[in-house]
Amino acid sequence: MRRPDLAGPVRVLVTGAGGPAAVSVLKSLRADPSVTLIAADMDPWAAGLYLAPAANRTLIPAGLAAGFADVLLQRCIAMKIDIVIPTVDAELRPLAAARARYARAGTQLLLAPDRSLGLTLDKLALARCCADVVRVPRTEAFGAADPGSWTYPVIVKPRTGSGSRDISLVESAAELAASTSSEDLIVQEFLPGQEYSVDVLADRRGHVVAAVPRVREKVDSGVSVAGRTVRDRELEQIGAAVVRCTGLTYVANVQCRRDRAGRPALLEVNPRVPGALPLTVAAGVDMPRLALDALRGRAMPAHVDFREVAMVRFLEERFIELGEVRRVAA
Ligand SMILES: Nc1ncnc2c1ncn2[C@@H]1O[C@H](COP(=O)(O)OP(=O)(O)O)[C@@H](O)[C@H]1O
Ligand SMILES: [Mg+2]
Repeated sequence: MRRPDLAGPVRVLVTGAGGPAAVSVLKSLRADPSVTLIAADMDPWAAGLYLAPAANRTLIPAGLAAGFADVLLQRCIAMKIDIVIPTVDAELRPLAAARARYARAGTQLLLAPDRSLGLTLDKLALARCCADVVRVPRTEAFGAADPGSWTYPVIVKPRTGSGSRDISLVESAAELAASTSSEDLIVQEFLPGQEYSVDVLADRRGHVVAAVPRVREKVDSGVSVAGRTVRDRELEQIGAAVVRCTGLTYVANVQCRRDRAGRPALLEVNPRVPGALPLTVAAGVDMPRLALDALRGRAMPAHVDFREVAMVRFLEERFIELGEVRRVAA
């Protein structure tokens, strides 16, 4: 068993290198000279792989693949990885289940505690958990929902969904009654107003260091391509309260939307780094670096402030020799 000394130089593997969340983490952490970055993805064409030097790129199975956590653990042992930063939803539960085995092998996960993952990856559990601390839209299991008792339209969505998949707007009680019931679905009050994402940074004990609300002004294929941070005490407090109540650590993304009366209400929580993190970093809170510091036991500021700033994003080309892609795929 390797004894991790996280105060010294560390080797950090970031998964999902093809996605904007991983790219944002890689860009942020490469400024720390004590960090060696290893980029991982299931696809040799994942752009973020090529932000790491050739020897530090690795292909791993999909998070949903049987044995994902074991294969990644063996890779971590072979590549002497001290810390894994997962950025893909499907990887979170399998990694959490294998957390003790990773720890025994000397690899730490930048991942919220199991209880927090249970509460945030299940939208019904989240609504129940946070109902007393923030405004939560009425949320019920599909089977338990009496169609006559709702104000329409309502949202029907998976309890454990992600990526806006399988979400529908149901316009009437008749339509809800005629829909196919499933244990995996929830019915939720429709929130018609402005949507916000609050990026929240907490230390490893769950103390909230920063909560940065932002608006997604333009979204392309689920990725925020234009946005801005907003100073709004109410939204900051919702983000912080939800993180405290669910016990989340490191970086989490709390999504809210204004209800019919204009009050912000909780939509869902992503217990991992979000894709639009560069905006939060630019606003003054370098969440990947601070979260890594927290995991490494480095001193953390009690609070970090931010400013209002806007972001636009565009694609940037990187040219690589064909052999480099073949080498990753081999
Ligand atoms: N109750 C709701 N009212 C209004 N819009 C909603 C509601 N629930 C979900 N949506 C819309 O669907 C999107 C995805 O829903 P969300 O709960 O965030 O699930 P996912 O895990 O798929 O991201 C939200 O960003 C929002 O635009
Ligand atoms: Mg969402």
